[in-house]
Amino acid sequence: ERKTISFPKDFLWGASTSAYQVEGAWNEDGKGLSVIDVGKTPEGVTDFKVASDHYHRYKEDVALFAEMGLKAYRFSISWTRIFPEGAGRLNEKGIEFYDKLINELKAHNIEPIVTIYHFDLPYELQKKGGWANRETIEAYENYARTLFKYFGDRVKYWLTINEQNMVVMYGAVLGMIEAKSDNPKKELYQQNHHMFLAQAKAIKLCHEMCPGAKIGPAPNIAYVYPASSKPEDVLAAQNFSSIRNWLYLDLPVFGRYNSVAWSYMERENCVPDIEEGDMNIIKEAKPDFIAFNYYSTATVAWDDGTSSSNSTGDQQIVIGEPGFYKGVANPHLEKTQFGWEIDPLGFRITLRELHDRYNLPLLVTENGLGAYDKLEEGDVVNDDYRIEYLRKHIEQAKIAISEGVNLIGYCPWSAIDLVSTHQGISKRYGFIYVNRDEFDLKDLRRIKKKSFYWYKNVIAINGEEL
Ligand code: BG6
Repeated sequence: ERKTISFPKDFLWGASTSAYQVEGAWNEDGKGLSVIDVGKTPEGVTDFKVASDHYHRYKEDVALFAEMGLKAYRFSISWTRIFPEGAGRLNEKGIEFYDKLINELKAHNIEPIVTIYHFDLPYELQKKGGWANRETIEAYENYARTLFKYFGDRVKYWLTINEQNMVVMYGAVLGMIEAKSDNPKKELYQQNHHMFLAQAKAIKLCHEMCPGAKIGPAPNIAYVYPASSKPEDVLAAQNFSSIRNWLYLDLPVFGRYNSVAWSYMERENCVPDIEEGDMNIIKEAKPDFIAFNYYSTATVAWDDGTSSSNSTGDQQIVIGEPGFYKGVANPHLEKTQFGWEIDPLGFRITLRELHDRYNLPLLVTENGLGAYDKLEEGDVVNDDYRIEYLRKHIEQAKIAISEGVNLIGYCPWSAIDLVSTHQGISKRYGFIYVNRDEFDLKDLRRIKKKSFYWYKNVIAINGEEL
């Protein structure tokens, strides 16, 4: 007899955004500057000053999320709305905004899933060394404490740091962090270590202050394929996966650096300074679930030492490290308009691997397709390619569940159009179209795309048909 495959009854069908990419109001109501606000915008694309103007239109947006039937909405809190200088003075207006947003969501029976920190480190902290400075750990802990105090009565799902792995690997190129010392790699891994500590402290605090709430890390996970069955290629895949994926989950879940990552850091002369007690703090904090963002898999080959180790800043392009691994294209996969490989089966492989390695509930906090959508006559957006992408990924998630994976929710990127990290508003991901162009703000009106109606139906029938 065939096993029926279905999603759990209380499955968290959701969608995601992040503060700086959707809110706008970059300098309103006392908000301080973040590294994003002072960063250089890549040529030809908009900055984040107005974004989708969600700060002023959150009520309308939440009403649309409710109409779509979202059970959960994953968003981030802007650190500098709460603490304009990152630490010290609290900005009441910032608390007020998220209070209203959370209440609005609750009123529509939408579960808030809150990212504490999504790329937008306060600029005042950056000026004092950012994550290289241990004071930032304290600032983050205090910021997290404040969020738990004000919102902990209503928020049951917390995410510590969005894509710490991408911040460490590509953040310097994207202006999310800086590494200026004579040994930038060591500085990056020092920052990484401090983020692990900050995360551990937030997990511990959350458990103390918000009984019943759950908290977990949210890295970007891409299963890594070897380019061939050549043992050297398999070794390269193991190398890359250890420093790109597992490092970021082995610390919070097991409280240790994995041996491949450790020997890599030794080889690269970038082992962080670890103070007495650090590893205990990390070991004692246990996440309740693993959240992760998935866009695609990665494929690597052995590198004989001749390729360059520069990164382009595009998270989906894996360049390589001489004598360790080298990123290559996967000839079996199709690509999006922006050159990202599409791999729904890789999604299932990633889910199974995460389940077996860590044995914790899994929550997908991003997955989606960036494209140049076209607004047609009569306010229509026919984004069939996005529906196709999501359908195939949800299908694989469903099979993974039938294979025993404990998946508790799926929050694609993004709930509504927003500004991409480095490719502007023209690279759209949303279920809801925002009527603006790269530099022409137009009327910013909201238009439901074809994928909006499709996803609404998927949620309504709990993924029975896709
Ligand atoms: C993830 C980030 O890396 O991918 C999001 O958490 C980001 O902030 C998303 O927007 C898509 O990437 P991009 O570069 O196309 O915006």
